Amino acid sequence: MSFKSKIHLDKVPAHVAIIMDGNGRWANLLGKPRVFGHENGVQAVRESLEAAAEVGVKCLTLYAFSTENWKRPDYEINALMTLLVRTVRKEVDTLDEKGVRLSAIGDLTRLPGKTHKALLEAIEKTRENTTIDLVLALNYSARWDLTRAAKKMHRYLAEGNEIAAENAESLFAGFLSTHKYPELELLIRTSGERRLSNFLLWEVAYAELYFTEKFWPEFCKEDFYRAIVDFQNRERRFGLTGDQLKV
Ligand code: FPP
Repeated sequence: MSFKSKIHLDKVPAHVAIIMDGNGRWANLLGKPRVFGHENGVQAVRESLEAAAEVGVKCLTLYAFSTENWKRPDYEINALMTLLVRTVRKEVDTLDEKGVRLSAIGDLTRLPGKTHKALLEAIEKTRENTTIDLVLALNYSARWDLTRAAKKMHRYLAEGNEIAAENAESLFAGFLSTHKYPELELLIRTSGERRLSNFLLWEVAYAELYFTEKFWPEFCKEDFYRAIVDFQNRERRFGLTGDQLKV
């Protein structure tokens, strides 16, 4: 029986994020170059997006390129950037037809011109869509975003604005690049690693973490549904006791 049939559609996480890990190891196990893994990772992106939209997830954030990924060999960075341009150009019409609104978080200005341009065009083309947000984290790291938010908040206060202490947290969250998306509820990481790797460190505060041994190119719709079912079987207490939740 598919995990999909076990999903309670009224309790689906509004925002799911994925650390897509294991492309290189998957390829190497097959005796192929790492880039082969990235190319095959695109299918897993498609599957996850389709599965997310089918069950009513409103926002899917994917860690596609971190600020640390610039340390990889040039040929791998170039291959990833080229793959991104090719995929975005090829898929933009389908995304648009399916009501997907594409956006990105991260310092996009450092991306190669072609990648930046293709991305901005696709973002513009899909910006009125409402079925699901697909957010690509590109040249993103949580510490970069937190530092940027702190600078923005400092500027806001230096301009003479005043805030009540109890509003400081929500004001700060408003300066993060994720402020326009729903609260993160589920974070998935593939490939057996159990780290956050500088991804959504603020947003993960009350999210459930789900780790799977599967490498990213192997991750399919059924795996996504399985993660949702696992999420729904957990008791989310948000600091309360189990008894308080029953009242
Ligand atoms: C991590 O695997 C994966 C990446 C750094 C890149 C993810 C990119 C894609 C899936 C390609 C296309 C994406 C989109 C959104 C179109 P890794 O290389 O770190 O694998 P390893 O841990 O086995 O070395």
